[in-house]
Amino acid sequence: MNVSIIGTGHVGLPTGACLAERGHHVLCVDSDAAKIRALRAGRVPFYEPGLEEIVRRNARAGRLRFGGSNADAVAFGKVIFICVPTPPRGDGGADLTYIEAVSRDIARALADYRLIVERSTVPVRTGEHVKAVITKYARAGRDFDVASNPEFLREGSAVGDTLNPDRIVLGVETRRAEMILRELYAPFKAPILVTDIKSAELIKHASNSFLALKISYINAIAALCEKAGANVLEVARGMGMDRRIGPHFLNAGIGYGGSCFPKDVAAFEAIARDLGCDFGLLREVQRINQEACDRFVKKVEQELWIVKGKTIAAWGLSFKPDTDDVRESVAVKVVSRLAGLGARVRAYDPRAAGEARRVLGRSVTFCGSALEAARGADCALLLTEWEEFGRLDLRRVRRVMAHPTILDGRNFFDPEKVRELGFTYRSVGRP
Ligand code: UGA
Repeated sequence: MNVSIIGTGHVGLPTGACLAERGHHVLCVDSDAAKIRALRAGRVPFYEPGLEEIVRRNARAGRLRFGGSNADAVAFGKVIFICVPTPPRGDGGADLTYIEAVSRDIARALADYRLIVERSTVPVRTGEHVKAVITKYARAGRDFDVASNPEFLREGSAVGDTLNPDRIVLGVETRRAEMILRELYAPFKAPILVTDIKSAELIKHASNSFLALKISYINAIAALCEKAGANVLEVARGMGMDRRIGPHFLNAGIGYGGSCFPKDVAAFEAIARDLGCDFGLLREVQRINQEACDRFVKKVEQELWIVKGKTIAAWGLSFKPDTDDVRESVAVKVVSRLAGLGARVRAYDPRAAGEARRVLGRSVTFCGSALEAARGADCALLLTEWEEFGRLDLRRVRRVMAHPTILDGRNFFDPEKVRELGFTYRSVGRP
């Protein structure tokens, strides 16, 4: 099938590349000319394991092309995926300016039948608006359908998640749209759930908010564990063995970040408010998330007493491992607050230093390795659980530090082992 993707970011590019990988012919367009140039040269403008390989492979095979206008996308694809950003507005709601602009472009270019699919995370009822905008701006009588097919991929495992999703949700209002999307996804071995458009839109926000809620729940339990002298890892393990709860997303730490959860929880709360429902639970989720970060910064202050003038090593800056994305990264927030308190922060991240430098600027010294960051440090903070930190030679780390203290924001290290090596060690929700 011929498919067009409008927007080649963290959502659009894996979607396009994986549809090509499954045999479809895909055209990706983007308003950012530099991005298109990079993609044409076989370079993915952000770090996502495995993505560059499948982009190159499918481009070579002639199934994946980049460039052109939104009108070209409409001319080429029987299915057109809208994958443009929906950034947060000041009041927490989602800014749908890009969605609206793309819808108008699609309308003007519409000739034969097209299926327009929302793939970006959007508030419930966006599909209605997209349809209304296209109807308004298209020539009278143009034939099209709108559908919602939310993505559930995680950064860092976007390729695997897109090729082998837990489920494929198709929000449709016509049989024709359903049949086209079923055909499109036939080469994917995943359960398909067909719903109306509004339910599909809600599934995405409801899922992300629920996952964020799980994280905040366990972070609240971690705070309790710290007071009571219990171990949050044991508590989470015991909870997770109940199949109704499940073991995933119960890792306590410094809170959730990234371009999705913070924005989506806020947007969902705002959507509920607009619809006349008070979803106070989601405000609590956000409050607990903020508190997880505050508590960690307080721990650093307790450990150092005076932060000003101290040297602090920061291990990890991305919002989670296997990505160079620092949007809403709690690691960056922690570093920025400590730098603001007068600490000399020496930071290292395997991939995200370039992105982090744009946010943190000269307030932080960027180092070439975790060991280098630890040199002369009064304490080291584990902020993102990159696998390579598990291979750190902690004996050498201890020797280069001014004082061997590790504050672990992700419960990454084994407390006994680290203490045996002579470190003062504190983590989250563990004695
Ligand atoms: C999230 C969802 O997991 C995807 O299903 C969804 O498609 C995506 O948002 C999206 O809306 O596009 P992502 O933001 O890539 O994916 O990252 P996650 O793996 O969900 O992690 C989010 C944050 O939660 C990270 O900061 C991570 O460190 C934190 N987290 C996660 C915890 O603190 N504890 C956990 O147990 C799990």
